[in-house]
Amino acid sequence: MKIMLAGGAGYIGTHTAIALIEAGHEVFVVDNFSNSCREAVRRVEKITGSEVRLYEADCCDYMSVRMIMSKEKPDSVVQMAGYKAVGESVAKPISYYRNNLDSTLTILEVMAECGVKSIVFSSSATVYGEDNPVPYTEDMPRGRCSNPYGWTKSMIEQILEDAAAADPSLSVVLLRYFNPVGAHESGLIGEDPQGIPNNLMPYITQVAVGRRDKLTVFGGDYDTPDGTCRRDYIHVMDLADGHARAVDYAAAHKGSAIFNLGTGIPYSVLDMVNAFSDACGHPLNYVIGDRRAGDLQDCWADAEKAGRILGWKATRGIAEMCRDSWNWQRNNPKGYADSEEDSDEEDDEE
Ligand code: UD1
Repeated sequence: MKIMLAGGAGYIGTHTAIALIEAGHEVFVVDNFSNSCREAVRRVEKITGSEVRLYEADCCDYMSVRMIMSKEKPDSVVQMAGYKAVGESVAKPISYYRNNLDSTLTILEVMAECGVKSIVFSSSATVYGEDNPVPYTEDMPRGRCSNPYGWTKSMIEQILEDAAAADPSLSVVLLRYFNPVGAHESGLIGEDPQGIPNNLMPYITQVAVGRRDKLTVFGGDYDTPDGTCRRDYIHVMDLADGHARAVDYAAAHKGSAIFNLGTGIPYSVLDMVNAFSDACGHPLNYVIGDRRAGDLQDCWADAEKAGRILGWKATRGIAEMCRDSWNWQRNNPKGYADSEEDSDEEDDEE
């Protein structure tokens, strides 16, 4: 199949592009590089030996999306174009609602015009909100989110379900990611956040490589065995494989479906710190600080449904997650920054 990866130059998008290409699909990327770069897509080409056409466009821009989709005529869209920083979403809610909802609505409108009938959406475990008990199952109601980013995911899920209910020829798959970490085993691509990382793993890798002084563990007084929060960390290549299964599922089933993409295994912040120290071969400098506002104590998946229906299961454990995150960061201490200067010509198809 031919697949449009909206927001495909980012961390999850580039890894997903590899999994889709390895599953035999043709992939093209639409991205405005608001939190990503061309170099990452170049490296996907290097890893796969396949061309990945790259369109620089904002998925909120109806004319651009229509031009691209009518030219490429994809069989399916994987929609990951959106802002994703929780703290920033609290400070800039309107920008988050505008960007994340508009990109998805624009894509849906253009899909209807161009006769594209299948969409896989990057949702998040955050939609379970504050009230559901762990482990989360897909039949639990969407809960109250603790920030605008989470609400955009929840609202977009609702929009996509309504769109599928109104058009019996449409296929919608909502993938609820847990905590993606790790990198492709080549060490050529990985997570490259701008500025100070918000998320745990990139913060850990930047401490390990000497870009940051120490990690602050947010809260050591939770009701967990070691006092720190527990999460369902999932290797980004397992997550990427989940998209390949989801695209196949969407091609064969009309209507909407939801799948958790997690391992079902919770690890604490200190479990991650210790596993990472083992992977990088030296202890990690950290302090226990205050709790972070909005953090849940526990968040992990019941991953049974994706196994039963998609035939998908995460296969990489915590040691591989840390090994591959470290391999990427060690080989690219400044992320993609080093190679960006010589990568600003060519490639743009528009
Ligand atoms: C959050 C969002 C999730 C979003 C993800 C990626 C919520 C409830 N969760 O997940 O929807 O997809 O970010 O943006 O909105 N930690 C530290 N020190 C740090 C950083 C993190 O101790 O410097 C801890 C956190 O307290 C948490 C764990 O590490 O217990 C993971 O944090 P993080 O990587 O930010 O992800 P989540 O908050 O789980």
